[in-house]
Amino acid sequence: MNILILGSGGREHALAWAVMQNPKCDKLFVAPGNAGIAKIAECAALDPENGDAVVGFAQEHAIDFVIVGPEAPLAAGVADRLREAGILTFGPSAAAAKLEASKSFTKEICDAAKAPTAGYGHFTDAEAAKAYIRSNGAPIVVKADGLAAGKGVIVAMDEQTALDAVDDMFGGAFGGAGAEVVIEEFMDGEEASLFVLCDGENILSIGSAQDHKRVGEGDTGPNTGGMGAYSPAPVLSLEIETRAIEQIVKPTMRVMADRNTPYQGVLYVGLMIQDGQPRLVEYNVRFGDPECQVLMMRLGAQALDLMIASAEGRLDSAQVNWADDHAITVVMAAKGYPEAYEKGSVITGLETLPEDSRNMVFHAGTKVDADKIVANGGRVLNITARGATLEEAHDRAYAMVDQIEWPEGFSRRDIGWRALSK
Ligand code: AMP
Ligand code: GLY
Repeated sequence: MNILILGSGGREHALAWAVMQNPKCDKLFVAPGNAGIAKIAECAALDPENGDAVVGFAQEHAIDFVIVGPEAPLAAGVADRLREAGILTFGPSAAAAKLEASKSFTKEICDAAKAPTAGYGHFTDAEAAKAYIRSNGAPIVVKADGLAAGKGVIVAMDEQTALDAVDDMFGGAFGGAGAEVVIEEFMDGEEASLFVLCDGENILSIGSAQDHKRVGEGDTGPNTGGMGAYSPAPVLSLEIETRAIEQIVKPTMRVMADRNTPYQGVLYVGLMIQDGQPRLVEYNVRFGDPECQVLMMRLGAQALDLMIASAEGRLDSAQVNWADDHAITVVMAAKGYPEAYEKGSVITGLETLPEDSRNMVFHAGTKVDADKIVANGGRVLNITARGATLEEAHDRAYAMVDQIEWPEGFSRRDIGWRALSK
């Protein structure tokens, strides 16, 4: 098969790494890719959000299967365009991608599905939103309705912070994403993510993960896209996972199918777990980044077969073959991230690191400049390892981190602390 992956981050490097190991893959293109991906696949200068360009490229290169990495092309309808052109595609339609693209849409679907989630109000004007905050009090969570690159959520521990967030959002701080606002009950508990493949009708769980969103050790400081992750998430016991599937995922899929917008692709189910009860925090319509890196490390080549089964509507006969293993990924970021950071610093030491089924450096934001690997983003490398225990995976990953020479970069030293201390 000729395969095309859309995207350019560590998630897409991990997807490419898994897909390349499967003998079904003859030729792999990634658009636009990065310096790490270029070592294992052909990178194509193509805008993943431009449906015409993506369909044209796929036809020209006889692509048999497209995997869409990030949410923006999905929300823009690129998967619809590919399917209309008769190209097998992994990823939901624009109508189904609203599960990530609109928070109020997701809340309505949860209401219809009777899925446990935070109580909420949906507002199109600031005064009504503020009245809701004053009558409910803090802590309370204020969310921009639309896609805001992970930045549109304010968890307000006091009322004034929530009121200010409403002013910021209606004042345009998140552009069009903040023209409508969802205000939610604050949920306490431990967060974990469940990843489920869907084919419009059937579902298949492909593992759990926890990430570290805060930039600083001990989970402190500003939010980021994720500074590290590990899989499985010990808090998601089989019993709690089953509850999440029966009470949240299956009813959601049924409602989506009943509305004639069946969901096909991977569903990222963000959960808050308290006293053994999972509640939905959010859906994403794609793999998490960096959660995908630990999932691919554990799934390996079978990930391609599973994604094809999802796209072809055959998940009822698919199954995951698990090794009883653990994986962890440590993000190395440019100093300053998630605020301003410099690009272009040189990274060395990568050539001596092992690259095999237990150790991989996935590139998130790199490029090649004068034969050297240089930083080209905020999150730059994902140092990923697998082991029989989380401790073993952890030690292997940090041994690799310690061999990388990059004075302008940093990483958290405590990825996995919550699970390791259990
Ligand atoms: P979201 O983009 O909806 O995932 O929100 C980002 C983060 O905000 C989540 O990962 C949670 O840590 C936190 N969060 C979102 N909604 C709530 C809620 N209702 N209660 C507590 N924390 C929340
Ligand atoms: N790591 C969080 C996300 O991908 O949304």
